[in-house]
Amino acid sequence: MTQYPALRLRRTRASAWSRRLHAETVLTPADLIWPLFVTEGDGEEPIASLPGVSRWGLGGIVERAREAAALGIPCVALFPNTPASLRSDDGREALNPDNLMCRAIKAIKDAVPDLGVLTDVALDPYTSHGHDGLVDAAGYVLNDATAAVLTEQALVQAAAGADIVAPSDMMDGRIGLIREALEAGSHANVQIMAYAAKYASGFYGPFRDAVGSRGLLKGDKKTYQMDPANAEEALREVALDLAEGADSVMVKPGLPYLDIIVRVKSEFQVPVFAYQVSGEYAMIEAAAAVGAGDRDTLVLETLLAFKRAGCSGVLTYHAPLAARLLGA
Ligand code: PBG
Repeated sequence: MTQYPALRLRRTRASAWSRRLHAETVLTPADLIWPLFVTEGDGEEPIASLPGVSRWGLGGIVERAREAAALGIPCVALFPNTPASLRSDDGREALNPDNLMCRAIKAIKDAVPDLGVLTDVALDPYTSHGHDGLVDAAGYVLNDATAAVLTEQALVQAAAGADIVAPSDMMDGRIGLIREALEAGSHANVQIMAYAAKYASGFYGPFRDAVGSRGLLKGDKKTYQMDPANAEEALREVALDLAEGADSVMVKPGLPYLDIIVRVKSEFQVPVFAYQVSGEYAMIEAAAAVGAGDRDTLVLETLLAFKRAGCSGVLTYHAPLAARLLGA
């Protein structure tokens, strides 16, 4: 160092203005998608395992949508907590054009037309067994029969006004079927964000509480969601979903899979999104609660990491907090 005093990398870090000037990656509210849980009735239902996050009735959902718009968040993602009486083996409530999800989509698009609405295509909030698709007698989730139902579900959501349909089920071939059906059904501009590399993860627990599927789920989802050991397979999943017509792809969960994000981005140069999932949110909240870390710092640092890895945006329950911190 004394030999090369010109080579001081700390020089550009010495002041706040200079650090800002040299930042290679920038996080803004426009990078955020806010997942919201919808419930019947008009109350607020806090979710114990997801402190600070609630399910909202339609009135509350519209308020959250207005809040998102005011904060500069471009898009919200909707997940319904279907009443138990409407859950069935075949999840047929998913196809009801007047279901909770469709009413929420319409309410938001009526009140805040310029806010993007992303919808979840999968059957787990509607089935009595908690799986994302139709199961046979042995409990195996049937691929092609499920993909056909999901195609109908995507059409129902598009007709209600969804801007982006996001299949989170991991059935093979469903992106192509959905793309074809959207084109045929005059929804050519409805986007598909494919949950392309979705792993069978231990980080989804609080989400399953939120949509009411935790207690119902029989077994696990390892026959359709990916093995956390695999990375090459994620590239094959992404390649297939893109070939079938996905507009963007998602990696999920987020932080434990940053390597996958980097590889997908460098291999395909397409819009990549990360889902910082419920268990990741809960981990940050737990750390903040015991004083192990500062919540605001942890939130912004983890979200910036997704941008640095190459993401176009991030689905995160911390979206409103992050947008506020970013000074929207
Ligand atoms: C299921 C679905 C899951 C999440 C989104 N869609 C959970 C699962 O696969 O069981 C998880 C999101 C989160 O944990 O925040 N279709």
